[in-house]
Amino acid sequence: MIALTRVSRTFPARTETVAALHEIDLTVAEGEFVAVIGRSGCGKSTLLRLIAGLLEPTSGTITVDGGPVRGPRRDVALMQQQPALLPWRTALGNVLLPVEIARLPRAEGADRARELLDAVGLAGFHHRHPYELSGGMQQRVALCRALIQQPRVLLMDEPFSALDALTREDMAAQLQALHLARPATTVFVTHSIQEAVLLADRVVVLSPRPGRVREVLAVDIPRPRSLGRSAALPAVAECVAHLHDVLAKAGDDGRLS
Ligand SMILES: Nc1ncnc2c1ncn2[C@@H]1O[C@H](COP(=O)(O)OP(=O)(O)O)[C@@H](O)[C@H]1O
Ligand SMILES: [Mg+2]
Repeated sequence: MIALTRVSRTFPARTETVAALHEIDLTVAEGEFVAVIGRSGCGKSTLLRLIAGLLEPTSGTITVDGGPVRGPRRDVALMQQQPALLPWRTALGNVLLPVEIARLPRAEGADRARELLDAVGLAGFHHRHPYELSGGMQQRVALCRALIQQPRVLLMDEPFSALDALTREDMAAQLQALHLARPATTVFVTHSIQEAVLLADRVVVLSPRPGRVREVLAVDIPRPRSLGRSAALPAVAECVAHLHDVLAKAGDDGRLS
């Protein structure tokens, strides 16, 4: 569904150019859930923006669903690191924005938007404005906005970073349930190794800048997984320990993002 071949991206800086990503080779199968971890500045957000068609690679090729990426597409949703909600719209109004832009039937969209908001624990908050919502609630509204068009490809950039630990576990469980019910091809950037192991079919570890694929780990643990109960499984503990080692090896101290 997603294929990157020798993808590099540099950015001009004041005196030199900054290499953000270096020769990334990565394929993601249809319906697969891939998590990406790596230190702050190793190019994780850049990777998602390249796949989303918001940035062009400096070299290399990217295809989605067999065709080259030429710009943003309706069937590819990106949930950015910041929720970026429209302050004058309610939670429901923000979730409905993509429906309106695409001129899809509003009544049907509104039904789905309400269902999504309820599913992420925002029943009773449909008509609140962003300033009345906590950071974590705003992120959940942004998640619903990304899901409203039932994208075939879902790109998520540290979507749960503003949530407290318990809400974060709830959200990861919700995301897993949504994915099991309707598996979109997903690339999920996180700084939590546990979250990556809980959610992903494969975990991609990027090296510090410029980001290169250092390791790809298949997580062979049956679903549904739970952060609480699965953490005790030897297979989960093994994956988590292994990823810590990989990150530690090349000079990382395991501190991410
Ligand atoms: N638009 C941009 N202009 C200049 N430099 C950028 C831009 N976007 C990212 N970078 C640089 O590229 C590197 C990777 O950034 P980013 O993809 O945001 O990393 P991460 O998400 O892993 O923290 C960083 O050094 C960052 O400063
Ligand atoms: Mg980032």
